[in-house]
Parts: sequence; C-alpha cells; structure tokens
Amino acid sequence: MHPAIALPTLIAHRGYSAAAPENTLAAVRAAHQAGVDWVELDVQLLGDGTPVIWHDADVARCSNGRGRLRRMSWPQAQALDVGHWFGKAFAGEKMASLEAMLALLNELGMGVNLELKVNRGHDPIALVDRVLPSVLDALPAERLVLSSFDQTALRHSRTFAPADKLALGVLVNRLPKEWRTLCADVDAFSLHAHWSRLKRAQAEAITQAGYALLCYTPNDPHAFHPLWDWGPASAITDEPEAFQRYLSASVSAAPGR
Ligand code: G3P
Ligand code: MG
Repeated sequence: MHPAIALPTLIAHRGYSAAAPENTLAAVRAAHQAGVDWVELDVQLLGDGTPVIWHDADVARCSNGRGRLRRMSWPQAQALDVGHWFGKAFAGEKMASLEAMLALLNELGMGVNLELKVNRGHDPIALVDRVLPSVLDALPAERLVLSSFDQTALRHSRTFAPADKLALGVLVNRLPKEWRTLCADVDAFSLHAHWSRLKRAQAEAITQAGYALLCYTPNDPHAFHPLWDWGPASAITDEPEAFQRYLSASVSAAPGR
C-alpha cells in the first residue's frame, strides 16, 4: 500500500526552471502560475546543518558568490543573490530554506517530488535525519514523493515512515540491472529514470512491476511524444508550458490523458 498520490502529467523540474532561477521560491510560484501542481526540488544541508533547496555542491553557477555549500552558514548563504544570474527581474532572490519552501508549497497547495541530493562527500544519513522530520510534519503523504540517487538516503528515509505513509522514489540514470532489488529494498512507490536512456521494454517492466514511472528531464515535448505510450505517470520538465501547449494541440500526444 502506498499513499493515494494522484501524480500529475507534468512536474516542474527545480520549479519552473526555464522561467525563473532554479530551486527558488520564485520558480515554484512560476510553476503555480503556469498551472502546474507539482514541482521537483533538490534539498541538501549547509555546513551549519540548515536544510536548503539547492542542486549543486557549490554556489558558483546559480549565485553571485563562490564557495562550497558544506562550508557555508545560513547567514553566508542569505547574503547571496541567487536570482540575478538568471535575469535582472529576479535580482535579490534569496536561497530558500527547506522551511520556507515547505510553507510556500502548503500556501499554494502544491505537491513535491523532493530529491535528497547527496553530492560527493556529503552524508546521506545526516541529510535524512535533518530533513525527514520537518517534511513529514509539513506535508500530507498525498503531496510528497521523496526521491534520491542515493540508496542509503532512501533506506534511512524508510525507517522514518512505512510505505503507506511515505512514497519513496528510486532515481536512476541508466536503468541498472538490479533495479527491482533497489525498489524492493526501500518499498518504493516510483522509479525515476532518465528519459532518453530508457528503453520501451524497460519502461513497461517498471510499470508492470507496479511502480509509477517518472521520466526526467525531457524539455522537447515532440521528442518525448512516443514515450507517453510507454506508460510513464509523469514527465519532470524544465518546460512545463511547452508540454502543456503541445499536449493540448495534439490529442494523441498523451494517450488516455
Ligand atoms: O529528480 C530528477 C532530476 O532532478 C535528477 O537529476 O541532477 O536534475 O537533480 P538532477
Ligand atoms: Mg533533482
């Protein structure tokens, strides 16, 4: 048994990251404004243990500063501008704490595929210990899928709640031979696969095994079109509005939807 999660066709990757700086409150608001009900976000810890919504191990790509996340305190992180790199309209955007992001998701009534991002050298156990209590407290099980490439993080997450209270997603790049073991090991709800490396037979085996299939990160709805026939529940995309336009223009693009 799993929570009664109605997965949406489209999940906005790192928020609506084609329209706003990724993993920010602005990116989640942009997804909501575009009519998208779920977002994918990455969570990790600063050096002082504060959980923040961030993808990279350092801040160089998506801020006006430099430095490793795990050497940074919350005041240092808050001194960064994490919006101007994306566009002047977002100047002054601050790195989102997990706490602020959970509050926004609740304010907007949105669902989240929260990725436990374990960058090289980071501790998956510390991340889960810090993040899980707040997340389980803040969000109903129907609006949460917790995913990770890191099996230790998933296994440890499972100790916080059983399968009917917490949906876990196994994230993979190329589908490994042992995917069934990885999923069974954590009583997974879903498997999240790289869309262009996935084969039709693999997709069908995943859904036949009873796992929801989520595909990341297709950004060209035309290229992704044939995969709707393979049975994925959701596409996790930077470009949800391009997908919406394509799907509404092409009745056959997403069969049965
Ligand atoms: O959760 C899907 C996708 O976000 C995984 O890759 O690197 O974008 O976090 P990445
Ligand atoms: Mg991610």
